[in-house]
Amino acid sequence: MQSPLWEQPVLRQAAGRTLRPGGFTITDRAANFMNLLPGWRVLDVGCGLGATVGRLRSRYGASAFGVEPSSSQLELVERNTGLIQALGTELPFMDGSFHALFCECVLSLLPSPKSGLKEFHRVLRPNGFLVLSDLYAKDSVQSDDKSCAARAIPLDETRSALHGAGFEILLEEDHSASLKQLAARLLFSAGAESPACSCGRRGLGYYLMIVQKRGSEHAG
Ligand SMILES: C[S@@+](CC[C@H](N)C(=O)[O-])C[C@H]1O[C@@H](n2cnc3c(N)ncnc32)[C@H](O)[C@@H]1O
Repeated sequence: MQSPLWEQPVLRQAAGRTLRPGGFTITDRAANFMNLLPGWRVLDVGCGLGATVGRLRSRYGASAFGVEPSSSQLELVERNTGLIQALGTELPFMDGSFHALFCECVLSLLPSPKSGLKEFHRVLRPNGFLVLSDLYAKDSVQSDDKSCAARAIPLDETRSALHGAGFEILLEEDHSASLKQLAARLLFSAGAESPACSCGRRGLGYYLMIVQKRGSEHAG
């Protein structure tokens, strides 16, 4: 069986070490929107090669950690201090541990996104921020395919899952142009021999949402 796209060299050729549409542009947009301060404890769920963890430390002075279930991804990381092998639905942290949590191009891959959101809510401090970016489906699609493109859900479903998990939506932006750019780079890197990814297909978009855990204390 072929490994998932994010474990294939073609994605690293097309996207570098940020294995998602938009790269650091969307990460920086979110960090600036939240006014991420030095010393904040931040978790990146499904951190892949740890690119965002490195960015949050070097550019924002965050105390950043990552969790990633795939040992083959973690083996590709040279300095993996603060990266832990774990699932997004079973985070090995105490309640209220983080000021902010990033989940970039991962939520739709979780076996149960609702359980993931509940777990993210648990490890965030009151008023802590959750940064979500992911593919979305412009229409409802049913498929057994396990790829991120096939598992994308409509934005309404994500909004309602977020409200149900106790989050308030502060920002929602469309970044579908970044998805198109990545799909084009993937096609170029893969060449004619393989349709590397179905993320360029019609009916898919890419979003950024920044949401906040409702609560009475301040995150700062
Ligand atoms: C498209 S990649 C994005 C990686 C990283 N967030 C980035 O943007 O560079 C998706 C990542 O989600 C991870 N993943 C898959 N299932 C997961 C789960 N149940 N919990 C946490 N991460 C998961 C994969 O191993 C992979 O590293």
